[in-house]
Amino acid sequence: MMMDRPSVKIIYIMIIASLCCLMAACGGKDAGAVSDIKEKGGKERIVVGFSQLGAESDWRSANTESMKSVFSKENGYELIFDDAQQKQTNQITAIRSFIQQDVDYIVLAPVTETGWDTVLSEAKEAGIPVIIVDRQVDVSDESLFTCWVGSDFELEARKVCMWMSYFFNKKGIKSEDVHIVDIQGTIGSTAQIGRTKGFDDMANLYGWDVVAHEPGDFTKSKAKEAMFAILRNYDNVNVVFCENDNEALGVIEVLEASGKKCGSDITNGEIMVVSFDGVNKAAVSSLVAGKISCIGECNPLHGPRVESIIRKLARGQEPYKYQYVNEKIFAGTSAVPSIMLGGKEYKVTVFNEETLYEWPY
Ligand code: AHR
Repeated sequence: MMMDRPSVKIIYIMIIASLCCLMAACGGKDAGAVSDIKEKGGKERIVVGFSQLGAESDWRSANTESMKSVFSKENGYELIFDDAQQKQTNQITAIRSFIQQDVDYIVLAPVTETGWDTVLSEAKEAGIPVIIVDRQVDVSDESLFTCWVGSDFELEARKVCMWMSYFFNKKGIKSEDVHIVDIQGTIGSTAQIGRTKGFDDMANLYGWDVVAHEPGDFTKSKAKEAMFAILRNYDNVNVVFCENDNEALGVIEVLEASGKKCGSDITNGEIMVVSFDGVNKAAVSSLVAGKISCIGECNPLHGPRVESIIRKLARGQEPYKYQYVNEKIFAGTSAVPSIMLGGKEYKVTVFNEETLYEWPY
């Protein structure tokens, strides 16, 4: 069938217009990537951008693993994962790229608390819910994030200090004979702020001699440097409060290399080491061996928790703004079966070879 000239012209215009649309879609790399993702397999996937702060500790690796295993393709998700290598600027860049890619949800594990207002305002403007996980953000407007899930770091520290206080009482160790140092985590992170505060308050309450605070950045290597410096400057330290297990392992290495024995018998010259997490196999083995005396649990398995928040949001429900995880206290001895804190009893989980064998990490 012959077509008249105006019809041919209209068809040309339509073809050119479609080609233009196609080229525009290909040119917009990021937007294209996400729509591809969403359409794969004929089923729409939920796209989650996760800005992880780094890989500084075993806790962090377990946390990353938990997120990756939940936000998998099989579970209907596309996870865009970014490791910021401990730099806030990298996290800000990652969030901006998630916004550009128009992800459905942003999950942020922030390295430190401050400096998030601008980028979170950008996410809010784009209408993307932001879920904060693990550490918190200190922002002027709380509507800049949807909710937070993580640990009560200050409570963790209070529990470990309370365990020490019960232990010292039981062994007849006087407060003034406790010479304690705090190897801190990444300065300005919620985990450090909370644990240092819990430590300072309790040390003050019990009248322990706080010899020093040294930053250890939650890493074994930094903690080793910190412990070397402490040994150079002080000769009376008998308790080391490490703000995570990786630090504790570094501290034990340094103490042993200096001819010291790690253990809870501080009246007979041993040095007591306490710490946090309970994820690292070597650290929980050290608990059984008596080299670490007490560990305040910090649970890293946030993947399922974040997913249940996302499900709630997807159903149009409002999750609790702050969601604290319940955590335990671990010890290698049954000397202190439980502690009382804030009117609540916390049972102490005693680690042995069997617990170690069944430990899930
Ligand atoms: O924010 C959680 C803390 O960060 C963990 O205790 C520590 O191991 C990690 O690096």
